[in-house]
Amino acid sequence: MVQPKVYVTRQLFDEAIDILKEHAEVEVFEGVDDAIPRELLLSKVRDVDGLLCLLTERIDAEVMGAGKNLKVISNYAVGFNNIDVDAATERGLYVTNTPGILTDTTADCAFALLMTVARRISEADRHVRAGKWVHAWGPRMFVGSDVHGKILGIVGLGRIGSTIAKRAKGFDMKILYFDPRRRPELEEELGAEYASIDELLSRSDFVSLHVPLTEETRGFIGDRELDIMKEGAFLINTSRGPVIDQDALYWGLKEGKIAGAALDVFEEEPLPSGSPLKELDNIVMTPHIASASVETRTKMAVTAARNLVAVLEGMEPSNLVNPDVKKVRPL
Ligand code: GLV
Ligand code: GLV
Repeated sequence: MVQPKVYVTRQLFDEAIDILKEHAEVEVFEGVDDAIPRELLLSKVRDVDGLLCLLTERIDAEVMGAGKNLKVISNYAVGFNNIDVDAATERGLYVTNTPGILTDTTADCAFALLMTVARRISEADRHVRAGKWVHAWGPRMFVGSDVHGKILGIVGLGRIGSTIAKRAKGFDMKILYFDPRRRPELEEELGAEYASIDELLSRSDFVSLHVPLTEETRGFIGDRELDIMKEGAFLINTSRGPVIDQDALYWGLKEGKIAGAALDVFEEEPLPSGSPLKELDNIVMTPHIASASVETRTKMAVTAARNLVAVLEGMEPSNLVNPDVKKVRPL
C-alpha cells in the first residue's frame, strides 16, 4: 500500500514527527525561526495528503487548489484565522486546531502581562540594566498600579477568558465580562458579572481580550473604545493583533487616555522595526509567546499530529474546526 504523504511547515518537536512517521511519509521544512516561503509552500503542497501548518502560513484557496491530493489541514494553534475555512469546507478539506491544551498556559501569560504592565516590571528591569539605578530607594520610584482588588474586564469568556478569571479571583479582583453569548453557569462559578461592552470598558481597571479574529472583531478596540476606557486603565491582548486598531492605541497611550497596554500580538508580526510603539514606556510587548511553555508547545505538536493522522486513517479528529465538511466528503 502506498503511504500517504505529509508536509510539515516548520521544525517541530520529535514526539509529533514520530507520530506522523508511523502513518505517513513525512517531509519537514528546514526552517526553525523563519516561515516557509510562499512559493515553496505552494510547490510542497502539490502531492501531499496532509499539511501540518502554523499560524504564520496563509492557507487560502490558492494553496488548497495547489494541493490536489490534500485531505486535511492541521493547524498548530487554537486560532485559525490564517485558514480560509469556508474554502476548505467547499473542497472537502478537514481543518483541525489545538484547543484546550494551551488554555492555562495562555491565561498564565495574559495574567503575567497584566501584572508586568501594572507594576512597571519591564520598565524597571530596563532601568536597572541600563545602569540608571543610581539614586537611593525612593517613595516615588516606579510606582505603578495595584492589581489586587481591582476590576478586570474580560472580553470573550471562552476557554482562555474564563481561565484568566480564575487567576484574577486569587487576586481578589472583581470580574466583569462581555461575550456575545451570556454564560450563566460561569457567572455563578467565577462570580463574573455580565456587562455590555461599553459598560465593561468604562468600569474596568484592566481589560483583557480573548476573542478570535473575525470580520466582527477586527478593529474592535479603536478610538471610540479607548475614549470610553477609564483613565488609568490598562489593556491586555493575547488574542490576535488586528482586534486592536494599533494606531489608535499608540495615540491613546501617548496622550494618556489609558495608563498602559501589554501586547503579545500585533497587527503585523514580527513588529516592524520602525514601529512607534517602541518609543513608549507604558507598553509591554512580547513576541506572540502566550502558549510558549515546553509542556504546552509539545502537547500542541502531538495534538496537531494526531488530528492529522486521524483524518488520514478515516477517523473523526478530536478537534475538527469545520464539521460541515463531513457532508461534503464523509470520512
Ligand atoms: C496562538 O496564537 C494560537 O492561536 O494557538
Ligand atoms: C480559546 O481557546 C478560547 O475559547 O478562549
